[in-house]
Amino acid sequence: EKGAGVPDLFLPVLLSPKMLSSGICTSTVQLPGKVALVTGANTGIGKETAKELAQRGKFTFLEFKNTQFISNWLTGARVYLACRDVQKGELVAREIQTVTGNEQVLVRKLDLSDTKSIRAFAEGFLTEEKHLHILINNAGVMMCPYSKTADGFEMHIGVNHLGHFLLTHLLLEKLKESAPSRIVNVSSLAHHLGRIHFHNLQGEKFYNASLAYCHSKLANILFTKELARRLKGSGVTAYSVHPGTVQSELVRHSSFMRCMWWLFSFCIKTPQQGAQTSLYCALTEGLEILNGKHFSDCHVAWVSAQARNETIARRLWDVSCDLLGLPMD
Ligand SMILES: *[C@@H]1O[C@H](CO)[C@@H](O)[C@H](O)[C@H]1NC(C)=O
Ligand SMILES: *[C@@H]1O[C@H](CO)[C@@H](O)[C@H](O)[C@H]1NC(C)=O
Ligand SMILES: *[C@@H]1O[C@H](CO)[C@@H](O)[C@H](O)[C@H]1NC(C)=O
Repeated sequence: EKGAGVPDLFLPVLLSPKMLSSGICTSTVQLPGKVALVTGANTGIGKETAKELAQRGKFTFLEFKNTQFISNWLTGARVYLACRDVQKGELVAREIQTVTGNEQVLVRKLDLSDTKSIRAFAEGFLTEEKHLHILINNAGVMMCPYSKTADGFEMHIGVNHLGHFLLTHLLLEKLKESAPSRIVNVSSLAHHLGRIHFHNLQGEKFYNASLAYCHSKLANILFTKELARRLKGSGVTAYSVHPGTVQSELVRHSSFMRCMWWLFSFCIKTPQQGAQTSLYCALTEGLEILNGKHFSDCHVAWVSAQARNETIARRLWDVSCDLLGLPMD
């Protein structure tokens, strides 16, 4: 069965109770005129994050017109939902538009398992949009059976890490031009079990679906650190987050996980609770001094020794550039 071996692996994650970890983003920052992009926004945490960003509008001055006072409502951010399934995305966009009253919720096709799709998406986005203030790298796959992306990368490292690496890379100039701007990477507590095996990055020598997920989440944290280091002084800051154990479609590949989800539902967050730490990192004023840090429940969180290792971070950066055919600098 696909989810074999998950019990040991995920118990510590499952047992971090919701009660102990109910971080809530209390920032009141409003986003009129801002542009945000959320990957994997058609379900779960991504959808909730997108909705909140679209919702953060504000009233401005009262205007006196024709013997009446008129107040002006400025809508929240213009939010792009970057989704593999555009039809599903459109449904979600309609829903968010209805709930938030923000018409500027747009769906664009992005398949992170195909670098051609990523490049096409970025090209389209860069031509149509002048700014990008918030990039939320949220999409992810979890515990898929061994499979490869269009470019021959193992699916977890390919989508969760390399796909977002390329996307971030292609959008970086726009983020810099729009500074102050932020990048949030959704990682996981599961990174603690991750290792970067440079000799087996694509899982060809040995493969374990649960661990492959952990490795890719460790890669997310290492990249956040390295990116943050490289972006110092650019006005762009980067954060990685552990959203908590969230009920989402990520478990679609494992009947075992669905069962565990049910058993431990008392400590499982809703997608809306799961979105709080991403929102906290995207919105909280003055967070720039914590550039590169990892967050859980809206607090700086402890990461594994591997995740703190700068040598590994740099090497992974170079290897990733190499795999994607990007210049190392
Ligand atoms: C995958 O790794 C976990 C954790 O080390 C282990 O418990 C499990 O048996 C492994 N699964 C397989 C199929 O090897
Ligand atoms: C997010 O993760 C991707 C993939 O690991 C990486 O390329 C990118 O630099 C990271 N960005 C941030 C802000 O951490
Ligand atoms: C970082 O990782 C490398 C390679 O695994 C190791 O040799 C080195 O001791 C580690 N550095 C620290 C500070 O842990």
